[in-house]
Amino acid sequence: MMPPTRLAGILIPAMAFLSCLRPESWDPCVRVVPHITYQCMELNLYKIPNNIPTSVKKLDLSFNPLRRLSSHIFSNFSELQVLDLSRCEIEMIEDDAYEGLNHLSTLVLTGNPIQSLAMGAFSGLSSLQTLVAVEINLVSLEDFPIGHLKTLKELNVAHNLIDSFKLPEYFSNLSDLEHLDLSNNKIQTICHKDLQVLHQMPPSKLSLDLSLNPLDFIQRGAFKEIKLHELTLRSNFNSTDVMKTCVQGLAGLKINRLVLGEFKNERAIKHFDKSAMEGLCNLTIDEFRMTYFDDFSEDVINFFNCLANVSTISLVGLYLNRLEVLSKDFKWQHLKLTNSKFDHFPRLELDSLKKLVFTANRGMSTFTEVKLPKLEFLDLSRNSLSFKSCCSRTFWGTTRLKHLDLSFNDVITMSSNSLGLEQLKYLDFQHSNLKQASDFSVFLSLKNLLYLDISYTRIRIIFHGIFDGLFSLEVLKMAGNSFQDNSVPNIFKALTNLTFLDLSNCQLERVSQAAFGSLVKLKSLNMSHNHLLSLDLFPYKLPHSLQDLDCSFNRIVASNRQELQHFPSNLTSLNLTGNDFACICEHQSFLQWVKDHRHLLVGVTQMVCVKPLDMQGVPVLSFRNATCPMSKTVISVSVLTVLVVSVVAVLVYKFYFHLMLLAGCKKYGRGESTYDAFVIYSSQDEDWVRNELVKNLEEGVPPFQLCLHYRDFIPGVAIAANIIQEGFHKSRKVIVVVSQHFIQSRWCIFEYGIAQTWQFLSSRAGIIFIVLQKVEKSLLRQQVELYRLLSRNTYLEWEDSVLGRHIFWRRLRKALLDGKLWSPEGAADAESSQHEATITI
Ligand SMILES: *[C@@H]1O[C@H](CO)[C@@H](O)[C@H](O)[C@H]1NC(C)=O
Ligand SMILES: *[C@@H]1O[C@H](CO)[C@@H](O)[C@H](O)[C@H]1NC(C)=O
Ligand SMILES: *[C@@H]1O[C@H](CO)[C@@H](O)[C@H](O)[C@H]1NC(C)=O
Ligand SMILES: *[C@@H]1O[C@H](CO)[C@@H](O)[C@H](O)[C@H]1NC(C)=O
Ligand SMILES: *[C@@H]1O[C@H](CO)[C@@H](O)[C@H](O)[C@H]1NC(C)=O
Ligand SMILES: *[C@@H]1O[C@H](CO)[C@@H](O)[C@H](O)[C@H]1NC(C)=O
Ligand SMILES: *[C@@H]1O[C@H](CO)[C@@H](O)[C@H](O)[C@H]1NC(C)=O
Ligand SMILES: *[C@@H]1O[C@H](CO)[C@@H](O)[C@H](O)[C@H]1NC(C)=O
Ligand SMILES: *[C@@H]1O[C@H](CO)[C@@H](O)[C@H](O)[C@H]1NC(C)=O
Ligand SMILES: *[C@@H]1O[C@H](CO)[C@@H](O)[C@H](O)[C@H]1NC(C)=O
Repeated sequence: MMPPTRLAGILIPAMAFLSCLRPESWDPCVRVVPHITYQCMELNLYKIPNNIPTSVKKLDLSFNPLRRLSSHIFSNFSELQVLDLSRCEIEMIEDDAYEGLNHLSTLVLTGNPIQSLAMGAFSGLSSLQTLVAVEINLVSLEDFPIGHLKTLKELNVAHNLIDSFKLPEYFSNLSDLEHLDLSNNKIQTICHKDLQVLHQMPPSKLSLDLSLNPLDFIQRGAFKEIKLHELTLRSNFNSTDVMKTCVQGLAGLKINRLVLGEFKNERAIKHFDKSAMEGLCNLTIDEFRMTYFDDFSEDVINFFNCLANVSTISLVGLYLNRLEVLSKDFKWQHLKLTNSKFDHFPRLELDSLKKLVFTANRGMSTFTEVKLPKLEFLDLSRNSLSFKSCCSRTFWGTTRLKHLDLSFNDVITMSSNSLGLEQLKYLDFQHSNLKQASDFSVFLSLKNLLYLDISYTRIRIIFHGIFDGLFSLEVLKMAGNSFQDNSVPNIFKALTNLTFLDLSNCQLERVSQAAFGSLVKLKSLNMSHNHLLSLDLFPYKLPHSLQDLDCSFNRIVASNRQELQHFPSNLTSLNLTGNDFACICEHQSFLQWVKDHRHLLVGVTQMVCVKPLDMQGVPVLSFRNATCPMSKTVISVSVLTVLVVSVVAVLVYKFYFHLMLLAGCKKYGRGESTYDAFVIYSSQDEDWVRNELVKNLEEGVPPFQLCLHYRDFIPGVAIAANIIQEGFHKSRKVIVVVSQHFIQSRWCIFEYGIAQTWQFLSSRAGIIFIVLQKVEKSLLRQQVELYRLLSRNTYLEWEDSVLGRHIFWRRLRKALLDGKLWSPEGAADAESSQHEATITI
């Protein structure tokens, strides 16, 4: 247990610290755009936070209990353009509260229970264009102090307690006003005097919304000679009688757009009677809209007759079931019929109609031909209609069609090659069931078509000429269809202007080589949700103009290096998510490619491994190749290297001395020799060498200098090095003393081998053989080389007889003299000898 004094010692400073923290010092507002846009919504602020910079242009203070706006409260924020004070529990706005906000263009005061609004509350605000004062307990427009806001364009005072439509005098100051929303107030009557001020205003662009006011009376002539842009009266009348009186009250009004009707969820008139609309004959209307009236099923002839001169008609959510009554002479140019209920497709014959939008209507099954000779735009989508024969001129009775939308319908049977629709630019069949589309060139005449959507139309593409004739086509969407053999054949050859092609969801397994060859302008290709196993589209089949390629959700396991090297140079986005990547060493070059091209790959972090099991769900990027064995080429190269190195080493080892000789030859060249001869012999014959050879040669005339290892080799130097440096390199000749012992000694044979190399390298005829005693032939044969030489060449044989020995010495001296630099006295003697003693190899 902590002693109370210590506890207090901790708590008191902590509380002191917390009490210093006021909400505004917490930096609570969200900086959406630094210095410009701040969002302080619902932070329980009771005043404007200190840390909002004075440069702020958009400030959202909604849902804070500000309660009261005192004078000059915003004066520090003179740059403000948009100020949102929705639901700030504001009850009082003092004079000059917005003073200084000369740039403010939008002020939102929605949902504040204002009780006290000073006469100067909105002073300043010299640029205000939009004032939203919805739900602020406003009782009357008369008392609303906005007469000086000459720049005001939109005033929204919906959902208040206003019960009079009297537009105050000051409206004549609001010459820019375009929208006045008075919907959902308490207005019941509209009298002539209420609109007096509109006569003083310039020819009006004003749109007036009076929806959801419980209107029961409009004085006849109240709108006489008044021009409005738009008047909306929805859910205003609780019976057709009231509606009839009020519509008659509109007589004389000139208006661009009149909107009558109810809301989908606010229906008051249960039984709509056509007589309610009779008064429309006394109005001049350009565009007429009617929404959501139930029970419209009766004869509507009179009603439409009053609208004969309207150019645009829009009928939404009416329970219309017939339209045959329409006269050919009606001036309608645009007709929109949506969400209605028809028994059968209306037999339309209108000479002036250019645009028909007939969508989301229920109750019909079959399309019947229409006669609309000027029609350019036809939208028949979402009607569950079936079309028995599509699509030619007779079908629509026009050749001017530019836009045709038959999407989301039932069966459409293609029966002609679109003759007569040459003007068509846009054609949409998506999610309808196209029959016979792959039997012949159904689009052959559409040489101006830019956009074609046949997605999900259940076509099985067999005929290769299906897109013939579409020379201008830029966008082709054909997702959700199928191909023969699940392979894209060469069907796009006419589409040289195509930039966008969607082939997703087509169960594709392959793409034929030439398929994309003619699409030289293609920018975007979608192949997602197919069954492709590899990216073999890449190597040469894709146009270089391609920028976006979507191959997501296929079955691509990996790709090989060649395929990846040649992908289009302009590609900026490649989607490979949702494939079956195998994160195994076999594919490490592909996985490395993924890492190297992450800037190109969309959602690269979502590319996950599917195989092997222990890597399932792991991002491809986290594959590490460290555990991978090296590749076969690396292995074979290294094995080869090791082999070569060891062979070289063995050779160097074996021919080390020969190499030393070689090096020595370079070094010593053909310079002066120290010795006349280097003697190679077996140690068993050393006695003979000392007593006979040395005595006779070194002490005779002329004296020869012999190199003998027991005498001349430098101690401390390796014997092999001595043999080469002292023996061979410094001697002119080599005397080989062949004997039984010599042949049996491996050392001697080795020395002899070096001697042969030396002779070869120094290209001297320098080896003199002395055979000391008769050597057995069989023994000699073991030394093949020596045997060959001795049997082919002359050699000196050591004789037992005195005469023999005399001849022996003479011949030896002569051989040694060969190449000696000075000319000694005994030379003539030696020259007379007839025997050549040197042996040349
Ligand atoms: C305006 O800013 C000054 C200095 O920052 C401050 O002293 C003053 O209280 C601010 N005025 C208002 C109305 O907030
Ligand atoms: C209308 O504007 C004039 C000056 O243009 C001004 O004198 C008058 O007070 C304004 N009316 C109202 C109601 O503010
Ligand atoms: C229509 O509204 C008036 C008053 O606004 C009311 O007296 C009358 O009963 C209403 N009629 C219907 C049919 O609701
Ligand atoms: C059109 O207005 C005239 C007079 O303004 C009136 O006599 C006539 O009944 C009105 N027609 C309809 C259909 O309300
Ligand atoms: C339509 O206009 C013609 C002539 O422009 C006129 O004769 C006819 O009365 C008008 N119809 C209606 C219903 O306004
Ligand atoms: C293809 O497009 C180009 C430019 O976008 C256009 O000039 C050309 O006429 C088009 N080709 C065809 C056959 O429409
Ligand atoms: C490709 O098609 C699929 C499915 O049809 C779609 O979800 C995806 O957004 C398309 N990709 C692109 C790049 O439009
Ligand atoms: C690649 O893009 C550039 C610039 O967007 C364009 O000029 C070039 O023609 C494109 N290359 C191909 C082959 O379309
Ligand atoms: C693939 O990425 C592109 C580009 O972000 C995107 O538009 C497309 O919808 C993605 N494809 C799928 C099937 O989500
Ligand atoms: C792993 O990838 C890097 C980068 O390409 C490469 O240098 C390295 O040799 C690879 N390691 C193995 C074991 O293949």
